[in-house]
Amino acid sequence: MPILTQTFFQRAVDALLGQQLVALPTETVYGLAGDATDDDVVARIFALKGRPSFNPLIIHVTGPAQAMLHVQWNELAEQLAAAFWPGALTFILPRATDCPISLLASAGLDTLAVRCPAHPLMQQVLAGLDFPLAAPSANRSGRISPTSAEHVEQEFAGTDLTILDGGDSAIGLESTVVDLTGDAPVIVRPGSVTLEQLQAIIPSTSVQGASGGAIISPGQLASHYAPSIPVRLNATQMRAGEALLAFGDIPFEAPAATLNLSETGDLVEAAANLFAYLRQLDSPEHRAIAVMPIAQMGIGLAINDRLSRAAAGR
Ligand code: TXA
Ligand code: MG
Repeated sequence: MPILTQTFFQRAVDALLGQQLVALPTETVYGLAGDATDDDVVARIFALKGRPSFNPLIIHVTGPAQAMLHVQWNELAEQLAAAFWPGALTFILPRATDCPISLLASAGLDTLAVRCPAHPLMQQVLAGLDFPLAAPSANRSGRISPTSAEHVEQEFAGTDLTILDGGDSAIGLESTVVDLTGDAPVIVRPGSVTLEQLQAIIPSTSVQGASGGAIISPGQLASHYAPSIPVRLNATQMRAGEALLAFGDIPFEAPAATLNLSETGDLVEAAANLFAYLRQLDSPEHRAIAVMPIAQMGIGLAINDRLSRAAAGR
């Protein structure tokens, strides 16, 4: 599996221009990217991930101008792009008439998910292309999202996938997905941009499910982000044979296999460590991963969302 350092980013651009798939760094998680306008390329993304075809992909763009070519832009998008792009916020908007994006990428929906990522290397790659990139997280469907080139290598070992190494993902948790097709933004996937941050720009922003009626993000499957061993949430003591994913002060005796998401109880630091630590503790030598309670505020909502899916019965 070729792993390219930053210096060789042009090879990643060339591979994408040649209809190949390339794993690319973003500030949230690594993405498995390809030409979003090419049906065959998009089909290969679904196949390599083992992703169900009803689960649509996020389309990565250079900015609002490129987004407007593909979706019906509106006032909500304008305000939120001004505040959060480039960054970890994905907009759901109606597809533009004559939108050239593969229908498969949006799983046959009449909406499209668009995001302008902030990672400088990802921006450099996008700038070298004349099409947007479809890029779901670069993990096998249902598994833990990758926050380093090494994680992507683990996910797709034995394939010839090219990986562009942009270092550890600074945020470490996927983008927040907001539905902007209604009168007010609705969060359909909690992520690293918090409800509070969105409400500071548009106070009427809500979370899907809180008031009912809004669309459900098809990717929000009950079991996802799953290690190969069980995950036990809200652990306030240890059970025999468990590894510990701690948060803040540990009020009981910690086992040797302990990783602390943030010793100081910092939720942003915890988000950045979450997927890497789940991977490290995911070993058959442990019976399960016990996870200490995480505060349900700010980015803690997204952390708890991922953890509850990681723990969901399989
Ligand atoms: O941070 C991220 O968002 C990363 C990086 C690589 O950009 N990407 C990512 O993609 O997390 P993925 O495919 O793992 O998750 C995309 C989410 C899924 O929950 C999917 O259902 C939702 O976005 N989604 C995509 N298109 C949608 C649409 N038209 N309507 C509703 N939800 C949509
Ligand atoms: Mg994913």
